[in-house]
Amino acid sequence: MSTSELILLTGAAGKTGRKVLQALTARQVAVRALVRRPEQEEAMRSLGAADIAVGDLYDTRSLEAAVQGCSKIVHICPPMDPGETEIAETLIDLAQKADVRHFILYSVLHPLLSDVPHHHRKLEAERALVNSGLTYTILQPARYMQHLLPLWDRLQETGVHDMPFSIDAQFCVVDLIDLAEVTARVTAEPGHEQATYQLAGPQNLSQADMAAILSRLLKRDIRAEARSSQDYLERMAAAGMSAARIENFRLMNTHYDAHGMTGNPRVLRWLLDREPTTYEAFVRREFLS
Ligand SMILES: NC(=O)c1ccc[n+]([C@@H]2O[C@H](COP(=O)([O-])OP(=O)(O)OC[C@H]3O[C@@H](n4cnc5c(N)ncnc54)[C@H](OP(=O)(O)O)[C@@H]3O)[C@@H](O)[C@H]2O)c1
Repeated sequence: MSTSELILLTGAAGKTGRKVLQALTARQVAVRALVRRPEQEEAMRSLGAADIAVGDLYDTRSLEAAVQGCSKIVHICPPMDPGETEIAETLIDLAQKADVRHFILYSVLHPLLSDVPHHHRKLEAERALVNSGLTYTILQPARYMQHLLPLWDRLQETGVHDMPFSIDAQFCVVDLIDLAEVTARVTAEPGHEQATYQLAGPQNLSQADMAAILSRLLKRDIRAEARSSQDYLERMAAAGMSAARIENFRLMNTHYDAHGMTGNPRVLRWLLDREPTTYEAFVRREFLS
């Protein structure tokens, strides 16, 4: 990639955005980080951002300014955003007008799950991009291994791994660091035009499987338990989450409970050009090193 190119990264200050920003700057790619709060500028600069755009994804004028001068866009929408499809459509339209050469859309594994609203909104965003005529790459990441992080303290205290769905439902959990590496690679290297990649982790694991791995690594008994969905949703309501977002979580967990979300790691392995991080290696890196 030419050193004079500038990449617009949306969602840059979020969990995914920060890792992608680091992975891009590690490849000497110049990134303009789109953040919605000016006080996020310093953190973005410290992670290597070459430029900052302060703007709101719902404000077309600020997006228009952010896109100017960028040859590529990596679009990471906030999770479960009700306007995800419209935001993508606006950005795609602006990208066309600004002659953006490559649009990388950070989607989700199995956007075809029409019973999970945010998957459906991502499917519509994908459709808009495919139909736009732009050069694109669509990334479809699986559920992150990093969902263990907010559970960790309670798990240590109680010895229970308790997510609000069946302990036997399997997920091809994937390491966010691997995903960031792949996102940077498809952005910086040629050869990923008009591609859609499923990014599944190396094993399909249930909560029971994860608890068994954790028991072995921590040398104590960790038990899997399906947390009460009602309790989980009530806590979200008490924390001030909107009714629409809570409903989105309920539908997602209902789907997870019945079907899990499995996949195949071969595409991820090929894109990384190495073995994807296993759940065991992830736990060792995050908590035991
Ligand atoms: N978690 C998973 O397992 C998983 C799996 C596959 C795909 N994904 C996808 O990954 C994406 C990123 O998720 P994440 O957990 O990294 O997100 P996140 O940590 O919540 O970050 C979202 C970022 O977007 C910013 N933002 C929110 N509303 C905005 C607006 N109106 N204008 C401008 N910026 C706005 C937030 O700003 P503030 O910092 O000001 O809040 C935040 O920095 C989502 O699309 C999600 O669906 C996640």
